[in-house]
Formats: sequence, C-alpha cells, structure tokens
Amino acid sequence: MKPEIRTHSSLEDLSRAAAECICEIAEEAIKERGIFTLVLSGGTTPRLLYEELAKEPYASRVDWQHTHLFWGDERCVPSDNPDSNFSLALQTLISKVDVPPSNIHRIPAATGSPKPVAAEYETTLREFFQATAAGDPSTSFPSFDLVLLGIGGDGHTASLFPGDAALEERDRWVVAVDGANASPPVERITLTLPAINKARYVIFLASGSNKREVFQQVVNNPETSSYPAARVKPSGRLVWFIDEGLA
Ligand code: 6PG
Repeated sequence: MKPEIRTHSSLEDLSRAAAECICEIAEEAIKERGIFTLVLSGGTTPRLLYEELAKEPYASRVDWQHTHLFWGDERCVPSDNPDSNFSLALQTLISKVDVPPSNIHRIPAATGSPKPVAAEYETTLREFFQATAAGDPSTSFPSFDLVLLGIGGDGHTASLFPGDAALEERDRWVVAVDGANASPPVERITLTLPAINKARYVIFLASGSNKREVFQQVVNNPETSSYPAARVKPSGRLVWFIDEGLA
C-alpha cells in the first residue's frame, strides 16, 4: 500500500494532527477488539506528540484503561537516564494520564545484558498476544494496532541501523543491537521488521530539512533504497506526518 504523506507547517502542527489520528485509531481498535495496542517511539521528535496526547482535547478521547503501551526500541541505559525512551514517555505522557501500570509493557533494558532482555521482552509480547484477542491468529507475529516510528539521518528507524544483521531477522520479534554507530552510542533492544510490519497502522513522525534527502529516498524509491526505514511496509496502513522541511 502506498504510504500516505501528511505535510504540516511545523512540528507543533504535525504533533497535534498525529494526536488526532491516534485518537481515531484508538477509538476504532477499542470498538473492534476491546483494547488498543500502541507502540511508542523514542528519539526527540515524538516529545511534542506525547505532550499533546496528555492534554485536552486528546487525553479524554483515549480510553487509557483499555490502552496497552509498548516500545519499538529502547536504549540500554537506566530508566531515569535522559536517553531512556521509557523516561521520555513517562515524563511527557504516562505520568499525566490514567493508564493502569499493568498496561505498561516497557523494555526492561537496564536490568541485564541485551540479548536475554530482548528474549524476555519477546516472551512478554508473545504471552500478551496469546492472552488477548489483539493478535491475528493467522500470523505468528504480533499485530499491534499502531506502531509509532521516527527516522534518523542515516535512514534508521527504531533501532534498526543500516547494514545491521537485525534487518535480516525473520523469526524473532525482538533483538539486541550494539548501537555503536548510533546516537547515543549504546546497546539497544528493538522490534524486528516482521514484528513492525504486521501492524494495522504504522505512523512515521519526521521533522527538519536535515532529513529531506533520506525521506525522499525512502518514500520515492523504497525498493532500491538501502535505508532501513524503506523496509517498513506494514500489512496495514502507513502514514507519514512530516513538516514542510521534508516536503
Ligand atoms: C531511538 C529511536 C530512533 C529515533 C530516530 C529519530 O531510540 O533512537 O527510536 O529510531 O526515532 O533516531 O530520532 P529524532 O526524533 O531524535 O530525530
């Protein structure tokens, strides 16, 4: 399915528009399956979106009691570290809305070495999707309602970096990556492409002219592009929220 591209005048505008879109997807998921499974992204771009979602008119439109939060990737740093994707979501969203603690499925990235942590998170996801009706029984991969993603200047997304073996993963849902060339250069845990591509919706948030070249490549030449973000081809809908800097 060709990606839908929604261009906005600023990061503020695209964050509000994305918040509106998330409310609609949440309402639809809860109406159809009783729960909404949302995968949060890391990096700096989603901060404004999370702050918007925690405020009216969006905060009361999302049924947080039936919303389950997951992460697309995490840096292997303590959760109170400013580089922690969990800490970003906690500060800007989770601490401000009434999502039950049992609905928060964080990547325990600070609790051990990356490989066993990745396996542990995969078990968490498998048990969740086996226990709930959220899964799509026809596939052995999780079908999240919505996966939020960003894109780096090198075309990476989640913690799937150019040339990394993690890009070729076909069976596992979650893997560890060394992240040596990333910023910050720390080990990470990330969802794999098959786990992302089973989602009903994938939303990319991208802002800033420094990403124009990589964005144009990813959306215009996905088949030839070596950028990891070009390999995000969900079975459901793919929507880009961008600002004019990328258009
Ligand atoms: C991470 C993110 C990563 C991020 C991009 C874009 O943990 O680093 O998941 O994939 O989305 O690096 O980051 P910015 O939004 O900061 O440009």
